[in-house]
Amino acid sequence: METKKNHTLVVTGASWGDEGKGKIVDLLASGAEIVVRFQGGNNAGHTVVVKGKKYKFHLLPSGAIQNKTIVIGNGLVIDPKVLFEELNMLKKEGFNPNLKISENAHIIFPFHNLIDGLEEEEKGNYAAGTTMRGIGPTYCDKMSRFGIRVYDLLDEKIFRSKFEKIFELKRKMYKTLVNTDKEWDLDKEEIIKRYLDHGNKMKQYVINTAFYLNQAIDEGKVILFEGAQGALLGIDHGMYPFGTSSVTWSGGVCAGTGVGPTRIDKLIGVIKAYTSRVGGGPLPTELNDNIAHQIREQGHEYGTTTGRPRRVGWIDLFSLKYAVMINHYDSLAITLLDALAGVDPVKLCVGYNYNGESLKTWPIQSEIIEKCIPEYIEMPGWKNLPPEEWSRIAKKGYNALPDKIKDYVDKIEEILGTELAIISIGPNRSDTIIKKSIW
Ligand code: GDP
Ligand code: IMO
Ligand code: MG
Repeated sequence: METKKNHTLVVTGASWGDEGKGKIVDLLASGAEIVVRFQGGNNAGHTVVVKGKKYKFHLLPSGAIQNKTIVIGNGLVIDPKVLFEELNMLKKEGFNPNLKISENAHIIFPFHNLIDGLEEEEKGNYAAGTTMRGIGPTYCDKMSRFGIRVYDLLDEKIFRSKFEKIFELKRKMYKTLVNTDKEWDLDKEEIIKRYLDHGNKMKQYVINTAFYLNQAIDEGKVILFEGAQGALLGIDHGMYPFGTSSVTWSGGVCAGTGVGPTRIDKLIGVIKAYTSRVGGGPLPTELNDNIAHQIREQGHEYGTTTGRPRRVGWIDLFSLKYAVMINHYDSLAITLLDALAGVDPVKLCVGYNYNGESLKTWPIQSEIIEKCIPEYIEMPGWKNLPPEEWSRIAKKGYNALPDKIKDYVDKIEEILGTELAIISIGPNRSDTIIKKSIW
Protein backbone atom coordinates (compact mmCIF):
# COMPACT_ATOMS: atom_id res chain seq x y z
CA MET A 1 0.00 0.00 0.00
CA GLU A 2 1.24 3.46 -0.89
CA THR A 3 2.45 5.67 1.96
CA LYS A 4 -0.26 8.00 3.12
CA LYS A 5 -0.09 11.13 5.17
CA ASN A 6 -3.03 10.23 7.39
CA HIS A 7 -3.03 6.80 8.94
CA THR A 8 -5.89 7.00 11.39
CA LEU A 9 -9.21 8.41 10.29
CA VAL A 10 -12.38 8.69 12.35
CA VAL A 11 -15.87 8.86 10.82
CA THR A 12 -18.73 9.87 13.12
CA GLY A 13 -22.31 11.05 12.72
CA ALA A 14 -22.74 14.74 13.44
CA SER A 15 -26.39 14.67 14.41
CA TRP A 16 -29.05 12.14 15.44
CA GLY A 17 -27.68 9.05 13.74
CA ASP A 18 -28.50 7.54 10.32
CA GLU A 19 -26.51 10.20 8.51
CA GLY A 20 -25.15 7.59 6.10
CA LYS A 21 -22.04 6.61 8.09
CA GLY A 22 -22.15 3.05 6.75
CA LYS A 23 -21.96 4.26 3.16
CA ILE A 24 -19.11 6.69 3.86
CA VAL A 25 -17.14 4.15 5.93
CA ASP A 26 -17.48 1.51 3.22
CA LEU A 27 -16.27 4.02 0.65
CA LEU A 28 -13.25 5.09 2.68
CA ALA A 29 -12.49 1.53 3.78
CA SER A 30 -11.00 0.81 0.38
CA GLY A 31 -8.03 2.93 1.47
CA ALA A 32 -7.67 1.30 4.90
CA GLU A 33 -6.38 -1.98 6.25
CA ILE A 34 -8.39 -2.11 9.47
CA VAL A 35 -11.90 -0.85 10.24
CA VAL A 36 -12.87 -0.45 13.90
CA ARG A 37 -16.12 0.09 15.79
CA PHE A 38 -15.49 1.83 19.12
CA GLN A 39 -18.86 2.34 20.83
CA GLY A 40 -22.52 1.38 20.89
CA GLY A 41 -23.86 -2.03 19.97
CA ASN A 42 -26.54 -3.45 17.75
CA ASN A 43 -28.69 -0.38 18.26
CA ALA A 44 -26.79 0.82 15.19
CA GLY A 45 -27.98 0.06 11.69
CA HIS A 46 -25.45 0.91 8.98
CA THR A 47 -26.38 0.35 5.36
CA VAL A 48 -23.93 -0.27 2.55
CA VAL A 49 -25.12 -0.58 -1.04
CA VAL A 50 -22.81 -1.93 -3.70
CA LYS A 51 -24.13 -2.20 -7.26
CA GLY A 52 -27.68 -2.28 -5.93
CA LYS A 53 -26.98 -5.00 -3.34
CA LYS A 54 -27.76 -3.93 0.22
CA TYR A 55 -25.83 -5.00 3.32
CA LYS A 56 -26.99 -4.02 6.80
CA PHE A 57 -24.59 -3.98 9.72
CA HIS A 58 -25.60 -3.63 13.34
CA LEU A 59 -22.49 -4.75 15.14
CA LEU A 60 -19.73 -5.53 12.69
CA PRO A 61 -17.84 -2.62 11.11
CA SER A 62 -19.05 -1.63 7.64
CA GLY A 63 -15.58 -2.40 6.24
CA ALA A 64 -16.48 -6.09 6.42
CA ILE A 65 -17.40 -6.38 2.75
CA GLN A 66 -14.12 -4.83 1.64
CA ASN A 67 -12.37 -7.84 3.19
CA LYS A 68 -10.52 -5.66 5.69
CA THR A 69 -9.53 -6.65 9.19
CA ILE A 70 -12.50 -5.63 11.33
CA VAL A 71 -12.28 -4.84 15.02
CA ILE A 72 -14.87 -4.62 17.77
CA GLY A 73 -13.27 -2.39 20.36
CA ASN A 74 -13.58 -2.40 24.14
CA GLY A 75 -16.14 0.43 24.05
CA LEU A 76 -18.89 -1.74 22.59
CA VAL A 77 -21.65 -3.78 24.14
CA ILE A 78 -22.05 -7.09 22.31
CA ASP A 79 -25.11 -9.25 21.81
CA PRO A 80 -23.40 -12.52 20.83
CA LYS A 81 -26.47 -13.77 18.94
CA VAL A 82 -26.34 -10.72 16.66
CA LEU A 83 -22.59 -11.12 16.24
CA PHE A 84 -22.92 -14.65 14.92
CA GLU A 85 -25.93 -13.79 12.77
CA GLU A 86 -23.90 -11.09 11.02
CA LEU A 87 -20.89 -13.32 10.62
CA ASN A 88 -23.10 -16.01 9.10
CA MET A 89 -24.71 -13.48 6.77
CA LEU A 90 -21.25 -12.45 5.56
CA LYS A 91 -20.13 -16.03 5.11
CA LYS A 92 -23.27 -16.78 3.06
CA GLU A 93 -22.43 -13.81 0.85
CA GLY A 94 -18.93 -15.20 0.32
CA PHE A 95 -17.00 -12.90 2.69
CA ASN A 96 -14.64 -14.20 5.30
CA PRO A 97 -13.65 -11.19 7.41
CA ASN A 98 -10.64 -11.24 9.65
CA LEU A 99 -12.39 -10.33 12.91
CA LYS A 100 -10.83 -9.23 16.20
CA ILE A 101 -12.94 -8.73 19.31
CA SER A 102 -11.77 -6.89 22.40
CA GLU A 103 -11.63 -9.06 25.50
CA ASN A 104 -12.88 -6.03 27.43
CA ALA A 105 -16.08 -5.31 25.50
CA HIS A 106 -19.23 -5.88 27.55
CA ILE A 107 -21.89 -8.50 26.97
CA ILE A 108 -25.63 -7.96 26.56
CA PHE A 109 -27.82 -10.57 28.31
CA PRO A 110 -31.57 -11.20 27.85
CA PHE A 111 -32.38 -9.36 31.07
CA HIS A 112 -30.82 -6.21 29.67
CA ASN A 113 -33.36 -6.19 26.82
CA LEU A 114 -36.17 -6.86 29.30
CA ILE A 115 -35.09 -4.06 31.62
CA ASP A 116 -34.57 -1.68 28.68
CA GLY A 117 -38.31 -1.93 27.94
CA LEU A 118 -39.39 -1.70 31.57
CA GLU A 119 -37.24 1.35 32.25
CA GLU A 120 -38.65 3.07 29.18
CA GLU A 121 -42.15 2.61 30.61
CA GLU A 122 -41.04 4.10 33.95
CA LYS A 123 -39.53 7.11 32.20
CA GLY A 124 -42.82 8.24 30.66
CA ASN A 125 -42.22 11.61 28.97
CA TYR A 126 -38.48 11.17 29.34
CA ALA A 127 -38.37 7.91 27.37
CA ALA A 128 -35.93 8.15 24.46
CA GLY A 129 -37.78 5.50 22.45
CA THR A 130 -34.86 3.10 22.60
CA THR A 131 -34.15 0.35 20.12
CA MET A 132 -34.90 -2.14 22.96
CA ARG A 133 -31.58 -3.84 22.36
CA GLY A 134 -30.53 -3.63 26.02
CA ILE A 135 -27.88 -1.01 25.28
CA GLY A 136 -28.54 1.39 28.19
CA PRO A 137 -28.87 -1.31 30.87
CA THR A 138 -25.64 -3.01 29.71
CA TYR A 139 -23.65 0.26 29.82
CA CYS A 140 -25.24 0.89 33.22
CA ASP A 141 -23.81 -2.40 34.51
CA LYS A 142 -20.44 -1.57 32.97
CA MET A 143 -20.33 1.71 34.89
CA SER A 144 -21.48 0.18 38.17
CA ARG A 145 -18.91 -2.58 37.68
CA PHE A 146 -21.41 -5.41 37.66
CA GLY A 147 -20.89 -5.99 33.96
CA ILE A 148 -19.64 -9.14 32.27
CA ARG A 149 -16.96 -8.80 29.65
CA VAL A 150 -16.01 -10.97 26.70
CA TYR A 151 -13.02 -12.24 28.71
CA ASP A 152 -15.34 -13.55 31.44
CA LEU A 153 -17.24 -15.71 28.96
CA LEU A 154 -14.07 -17.62 28.15
CA ASP A 155 -13.70 -19.13 31.62
CA GLU A 156 -16.61 -21.03 33.16
CA LYS A 157 -15.46 -20.46 36.76
CA ILE A 158 -15.06 -16.71 36.38
CA PHE A 159 -18.27 -16.39 34.37
CA ARG A 160 -20.37 -18.38 36.83
CA SER A 161 -19.19 -16.47 39.88
CA LYS A 162 -19.90 -13.09 38.24
CA PHE A 163 -23.10 -14.15 36.51
CA GLU A 164 -24.70 -15.52 39.71
CA LYS A 165 -24.40 -12.07 41.23
CA ILE A 166 -25.69 -10.05 38.31
CA PHE A 167 -28.53 -12.49 37.66
CA GLU A 168 -29.75 -12.20 41.24
CA LEU A 169 -29.51 -8.42 41.18
CA LYS A 170 -31.45 -8.17 37.93
CA ARG A 171 -34.08 -10.65 39.17
CA LYS A 172 -34.79 -8.36 42.10
CA MET A 173 -34.81 -5.33 39.83
CA TYR A 174 -37.29 -6.99 37.51
CA LYS A 175 -39.66 -7.78 40.39
CA THR A 176 -39.52 -4.16 41.55
CA LEU A 177 -40.04 -2.75 38.07
CA VAL A 178 -43.06 -4.91 37.30
CA ASN A 179 -44.21 -4.90 40.94
CA THR A 180 -44.73 -8.64 41.10
CA ASP A 181 -44.00 -11.63 43.33
CA LYS A 182 -43.87 -13.83 40.27
CA GLU A 183 -40.56 -14.98 38.90
CA TRP A 184 -39.48 -14.03 35.39
CA ASP A 185 -39.17 -16.79 32.84
CA LEU A 186 -35.39 -16.51 32.44
CA ASP A 187 -33.58 -19.74 33.22
CA LYS A 188 -30.21 -19.05 34.81
CA GLU A 189 -28.61 -22.38 33.92
CA GLU A 190 -29.85 -22.19 30.34
CA ILE A 191 -28.35 -18.70 29.92
CA ILE A 192 -25.05 -19.79 31.46
CA LYS A 193 -24.85 -22.73 29.09
CA ARG A 194 -25.82 -20.66 26.06
CA TYR A 195 -23.35 -17.86 26.81
CA LEU A 196 -20.49 -20.26 27.57
CA ASP A 197 -21.19 -21.71 24.18
CA HIS A 198 -21.09 -18.20 22.68
CA GLY A 199 -17.78 -17.62 24.50
CA ASN A 200 -16.38 -20.81 23.12
CA LYS A 201 -17.25 -19.77 19.58
CA MET A 202 -15.97 -16.23 20.15
CA LYS A 203 -12.61 -17.36 21.57
CA GLN A 204 -10.88 -17.53 18.19
CA TYR A 205 -11.49 -13.80 17.63
CA VAL A 206 -10.72 -12.47 21.11
CA ILE A 207 -7.57 -10.45 21.72
CA ASN A 208 -6.46 -7.30 23.51
CA THR A 209 -7.42 -4.90 20.73
CA ALA A 210 -5.68 -1.91 22.36
CA PHE A 211 -2.30 -3.65 21.94
CA TYR A 212 -3.25 -4.81 18.47
CA LEU A 213 -4.29 -1.36 17.24
CA ASN A 214 -1.33 0.47 18.76
CA GLN A 215 1.05 -2.00 17.18
CA ALA A 216 -0.74 -1.60 13.86
CA ILE A 217 -0.24 2.17 14.11
CA ASP A 218 3.45 1.62 14.96
CA GLU A 219 3.71 -0.43 11.77
CA GLY A 220 2.16 2.39 9.71
CA LYS A 221 -1.10 0.57 8.97
CA VAL A 222 -4.09 2.63 7.86
CA ILE A 223 -7.01 2.44 10.28
CA LEU A 224 -10.56 3.68 9.91
CA PHE A 225 -12.70 4.16 13.03
CA GLU A 226 -16.45 3.90 12.46
CA GLY A 227 -18.77 5.78 14.78
CA ALA A 228 -22.31 4.68 15.51
CA GLN A 229 -25.27 6.91 16.36
CA GLY A 230 -24.39 10.62 16.24
CA ALA A 231 -22.88 13.45 18.26
CA LEU A 232 -26.26 14.80 19.37
CA LEU A 233 -27.30 11.39 20.70
CA GLY A 234 -24.16 11.00 22.83
CA ILE A 235 -24.23 10.43 26.57
CA ASP A 236 -21.96 13.38 27.44
CA HIS A 237 -22.53 16.05 24.81
CA GLY A 238 -25.85 15.03 23.31
CA MET A 239 -29.42 15.85 24.25
CA TYR A 240 -29.77 14.08 27.58
CA PRO A 241 -31.87 12.01 28.36
CA PHE A 242 -33.12 11.67 24.76
CA GLY A 243 -30.08 9.89 23.40
CA THR A 244 -28.08 6.73 23.71
CA SER A 245 -25.69 5.53 26.43
CA SER A 246 -22.31 5.60 24.71
CA VAL A 247 -19.66 8.18 23.80
CA THR A 248 -20.63 8.95 20.22
CA TRP A 249 -18.44 11.93 19.37
CA SER A 250 -14.93 11.44 17.96
CA GLY A 251 -13.37 11.47 21.43
CA GLY A 252 -15.06 8.13 22.04
CA VAL A 253 -12.42 6.51 19.84
CA CYS A 254 -9.78 6.88 22.52
CA ALA A 255 -11.91 5.50 25.36
CA GLY A 256 -13.40 2.80 23.16
CA THR A 257 -10.16 1.46 21.69
CA GLY A 258 -7.19 2.43 23.85
CA VAL A 259 -5.65 4.52 21.05
CA GLY A 260 -4.46 7.83 22.47
CA PRO A 261 -5.67 11.24 21.19
CA THR A 262 -2.30 12.18 19.67
CA ARG A 263 -2.45 9.09 17.46
CA ILE A 264 -5.61 10.20 15.65
CA ASP A 265 -4.86 11.99 12.38
CA LYS A 266 -8.16 13.06 10.90
CA LEU A 267 -11.80 13.46 11.85
CA ILE A 268 -14.70 13.31 9.38
CA GLY A 269 -18.26 14.18 10.32
CA VAL A 270 -21.22 12.84 8.34
CA ILE A 271 -24.25 15.07 7.88
CA LYS A 272 -27.32 14.61 5.73
CA ALA A 273 -29.02 17.14 3.46
CA TYR A 274 -31.92 17.38 5.93
CA THR A 275 -32.47 16.24 9.51
CA SER A 276 -33.79 12.87 10.62
CA ARG A 277 -34.31 11.35 13.98
CA VAL A 278 -35.82 8.14 15.27
CA GLY A 279 -37.07 8.10 18.84
CA GLY A 280 -38.16 10.74 21.35
CA GLY A 281 -36.98 14.25 22.21
CA PRO A 282 -37.57 17.70 20.73
CA LEU A 283 -36.62 18.32 17.10
CA PRO A 284 -37.12 22.02 16.28
CA THR A 285 -36.91 21.74 12.49
CA GLU A 286 -39.28 18.76 12.31
CA LEU A 287 -41.79 18.70 9.44
CA ASN A 288 -45.15 16.99 9.62
CA ASP A 289 -46.59 17.83 6.22
CA ASN A 290 -46.40 16.74 2.61
CA ILE A 291 -42.76 17.77 2.42
CA ALA A 292 -41.99 15.42 5.33
CA HIS A 293 -43.77 12.64 3.49
CA GLN A 294 -41.87 13.39 0.28
CA ILE A 295 -38.47 13.42 2.02
CA ARG A 296 -39.26 10.27 4.04
CA GLU A 297 -40.24 8.35 0.92
CA GLN A 298 -37.42 9.66 -1.31
CA GLY A 299 -34.83 9.02 1.40
CA HIS A 300 -36.41 5.71 2.52
CA GLU A 301 -36.34 7.11 6.03
CA TYR A 302 -37.34 4.00 7.96
CA GLY A 303 -35.08 2.70 10.74
CA THR A 304 -32.45 0.17 9.65
CA THR A 305 -32.65 -1.52 13.05
CA THR A 306 -36.30 -1.17 14.12
CA GLY A 307 -38.09 -0.27 10.87
CA ARG A 308 -39.70 2.76 12.59
CA PRO A 309 -40.53 5.71 10.28
CA ARG A 310 -37.89 8.36 10.97
CA ARG A 311 -38.91 11.88 11.90
CA VAL A 312 -37.62 14.31 9.29
CA GLY A 313 -37.10 18.06 9.06
CA TRP A 314 -35.00 20.84 7.52
CA ILE A 315 -31.25 20.74 7.99
CA ASP A 316 -30.40 22.17 11.44
CA LEU A 317 -27.12 24.02 10.97
CA PHE A 318 -27.37 25.50 14.46
CA SER A 319 -27.10 22.07 16.11
CA LEU A 320 -24.56 20.96 13.50
CA LYS A 321 -22.39 23.94 14.38
CA TYR A 322 -22.31 22.65 17.93
CA ALA A 323 -21.40 19.14 16.70
CA VAL A 324 -18.64 20.64 14.55
CA MET A 325 -17.34 22.53 17.58
CA ILE A 326 -17.13 19.56 19.95
CA ASN A 327 -15.64 17.27 17.31
CA HIS A 328 -13.49 19.88 15.60
CA TYR A 329 -13.88 17.94 12.35
CA ASP A 330 -11.28 18.27 9.62
CA SER A 331 -13.95 17.80 6.98
CA LEU A 332 -17.52 16.70 6.39
CA ALA A 333 -19.40 14.29 4.16
CA ILE A 334 -22.94 15.21 3.13
CA THR A 335 -25.40 12.50 2.09
CA LEU A 336 -28.90 12.19 0.66
CA LEU A 337 -28.87 15.38 -1.44
CA ASP A 338 -30.82 13.43 -4.08
CA ALA A 339 -33.52 12.65 -1.51
CA LEU A 340 -34.20 16.37 -0.99
CA ALA A 341 -34.71 16.89 -4.72
CA GLY A 342 -38.06 18.27 -5.85
CA VAL A 343 -38.52 20.26 -2.64
CA ASP A 344 -38.51 23.94 -3.55
CA PRO A 345 -37.58 26.15 -1.81
CA VAL A 346 -35.45 24.41 0.79
CA LYS A 347 -34.98 25.85 4.26
CA LEU A 348 -31.84 25.84 6.39
CA CYS A 349 -32.07 26.47 10.12
CA VAL A 350 -29.31 28.88 11.10
CA GLY A 351 -30.36 29.75 14.65
CA TYR A 352 -32.94 29.30 17.41
CA ASN A 353 -35.18 31.94 18.90
CA TYR A 354 -35.86 31.41 22.60
CA ASN A 355 -38.21 33.73 24.49
CA GLY A 356 -37.96 36.35 21.74
CA GLU A 357 -34.17 36.32 21.53
CA SER A 358 -31.75 34.67 19.14
CA LEU A 359 -29.52 32.22 20.99
CA LYS A 360 -25.78 32.47 20.43
CA THR A 361 -25.04 28.77 20.94
CA TRP A 362 -27.01 25.54 20.66
CA PRO A 363 -28.72 25.18 24.03
CA ILE A 364 -28.22 21.41 24.61
CA GLN A 365 -30.91 21.17 27.33
CA SER A 366 -34.06 19.51 25.97
CA GLU A 367 -36.30 21.69 28.17
CA ILE A 368 -34.96 24.77 26.37
CA ILE A 369 -34.80 23.22 22.90
CA GLU A 370 -38.46 22.22 22.98
CA LYS A 371 -39.37 25.90 23.42
CA CYS A 372 -37.13 27.17 20.63
CA ILE A 373 -38.40 28.43 17.30
CA PRO A 374 -35.98 27.78 14.42
CA GLU A 375 -34.69 30.72 12.39
CA TYR A 376 -34.47 29.87 8.70
CA ILE A 377 -32.92 31.06 5.51
CA GLU A 378 -34.38 29.84 2.23
CA MET A 379 -32.68 28.67 -0.91
CA PRO A 380 -33.99 27.43 -4.25
CA GLY A 381 -34.36 23.66 -4.46
CA TRP A 382 -33.20 21.37 -7.26
CA LYS A 383 -35.07 19.10 -9.65
CA ASN A 384 -35.74 15.46 -9.03
CA LEU A 385 -33.92 13.04 -11.30
CA PRO A 386 -34.12 9.30 -11.87
CA PRO A 387 -31.51 7.29 -9.88
CA GLU A 388 -29.53 6.48 -13.05
CA GLU A 389 -29.14 10.21 -13.71
CA TRP A 390 -27.74 10.80 -10.21
CA SER A 391 -25.31 7.94 -10.81
CA ARG A 392 -24.25 9.50 -14.10
CA ILE A 393 -23.64 12.85 -12.39
CA ALA A 394 -21.56 11.14 -9.69
CA LYS A 395 -19.41 9.51 -12.36
CA LYS A 396 -18.79 12.85 -14.06
CA GLY A 397 -17.82 14.55 -10.81
CA TYR A 398 -18.39 17.78 -8.94
CA ASN A 399 -18.77 20.06 -11.96
CA ALA A 400 -21.71 17.98 -13.21
CA LEU A 401 -23.77 18.65 -10.07
CA PRO A 402 -26.81 20.94 -10.52
CA ASP A 403 -25.83 24.52 -9.63
CA LYS A 404 -28.52 24.68 -6.94
CA ILE A 405 -26.89 21.77 -5.11
CA LYS A 406 -23.50 23.44 -5.38
CA ASP A 407 -24.98 26.62 -3.87
CA TYR A 408 -26.61 24.61 -1.06
CA VAL A 409 -23.37 22.81 -0.29
CA ASP A 410 -21.37 26.06 -0.41
CA LYS A 411 -23.80 27.73 2.01
CA ILE A 412 -23.52 24.82 4.46
CA GLU A 413 -19.75 24.90 4.18
CA GLU A 414 -19.74 28.65 4.82
CA ILE A 415 -22.01 28.46 7.87
CA LEU A 416 -20.28 25.46 9.44
CA GLY A 417 -16.82 26.76 8.59
CA THR A 418 -15.73 23.26 7.60
CA GLU A 419 -15.08 21.88 4.13
CA LEU A 420 -17.54 19.44 2.62
CA ALA A 421 -15.13 16.92 1.15
CA ILE A 422 -17.57 14.16 0.16
CA ILE A 423 -20.90 14.66 -1.58
CA SER A 424 -23.28 11.70 -1.75
CA ILE A 425 -26.18 11.69 -4.21
CA GLY A 426 -27.38 8.10 -4.06
CA PRO A 427 -27.21 5.00 -1.86
CA ASN A 428 -24.68 3.11 -4.01
CA ARG A 429 -21.00 3.21 -3.21
CA SER A 430 -20.40 4.74 -6.62
CA ASP A 431 -23.01 7.52 -6.22
CA THR A 432 -20.43 9.67 -4.52
CA ILE A 433 -18.30 12.67 -5.40
CA ILE A 434 -15.01 13.15 -3.62
CA LYS A 435 -14.53 16.90 -3.79
CA LYS A 436 -11.38 16.89 -1.74
CA SER A 437 -9.17 13.91 -1.01
CA ILE A 438 -9.61 12.59 2.52
CA TRP A 439 -6.51 10.49 3.12
P1 GDP B 1 -26.03 5.17 9.21
O1 GDP B 1 -26.69 4.61 10.42
O2 GDP B 1 -25.47 6.53 9.46
O3 GDP B 1 -25.04 4.24 8.60
O4 GDP B 1 -27.20 5.39 8.14
P2 GDP B 1 -28.35 4.33 7.75
O5 GDP B 1 -27.75 3.26 6.92
O6 GDP B 1 -29.12 3.93 8.95
O7 GDP B 1 -29.32 5.27 6.92
C1 GDP B 1 -28.89 5.94 5.77
C2 GDP B 1 -29.76 5.47 4.60
O8 GDP B 1 -29.56 6.31 3.50
C3 GDP B 1 -29.41 4.09 4.10
O9 GDP B 1 -30.56 3.46 3.60
C4 GDP B 1 -28.41 4.36 2.97
O10 GDP B 1 -28.38 3.33 2.00
C5 GDP B 1 -28.99 5.60 2.40
N1 GDP B 1 -28.08 6.55 1.79
C6 GDP B 1 -26.84 6.94 2.18
N2 GDP B 1 -26.38 7.94 1.41
C7 GDP B 1 -27.35 8.19 0.50
C8 GDP B 1 -27.51 9.15 -0.55
O11 GDP B 1 -26.66 9.99 -0.80
N3 GDP B 1 -28.69 9.10 -1.25
C9 GDP B 1 -29.67 8.20 -0.98
N4 GDP B 1 -30.76 8.23 -1.71
N5 GDP B 1 -29.55 7.29 0.00
C10 GDP B 1 -28.42 7.31 0.73
P1 IMO C 1 -26.93 4.51 13.78
O1 IMO C 1 -25.56 4.03 14.16
C1 IMO C 1 -30.52 6.63 15.01
C2 IMO C 1 -31.67 6.29 19.25
C3 IMO C 1 -32.94 5.51 19.60
C4 IMO C 1 -33.37 6.24 20.87
C5 IMO C 1 -32.04 6.54 21.54
C6 IMO C 1 -31.63 5.54 22.60
O2 IMO C 1 -27.64 3.62 12.82
O3 IMO C 1 -26.91 5.93 13.36
P2 IMO C 1 -30.71 3.05 22.53
O4 IMO C 1 -31.34 1.79 22.00
O5 IMO C 1 -29.40 3.37 21.95
O6 IMO C 1 -30.70 3.07 24.04
O7 IMO C 1 -31.73 4.22 22.09
O8 IMO C 1 -31.06 6.57 20.51
N1 IMO C 1 -30.69 5.53 18.43
C7 IMO C 1 -30.44 5.77 17.14
N2 IMO C 1 -31.03 6.63 16.27
N3 IMO C 1 -29.48 5.88 14.62
C8 IMO C 1 -28.87 5.03 15.48
O9 IMO C 1 -27.76 4.35 15.16
C9 IMO C 1 -29.37 4.92 16.80
N4 IMO C 1 -29.02 4.19 17.88
C10 IMO C 1 -29.83 4.57 18.87
O10 IMO C 1 -33.90 5.61 18.58
O11 IMO C 1 -33.98 7.47 20.56
MG1 MG D 1 -28.52 3.81 10.97
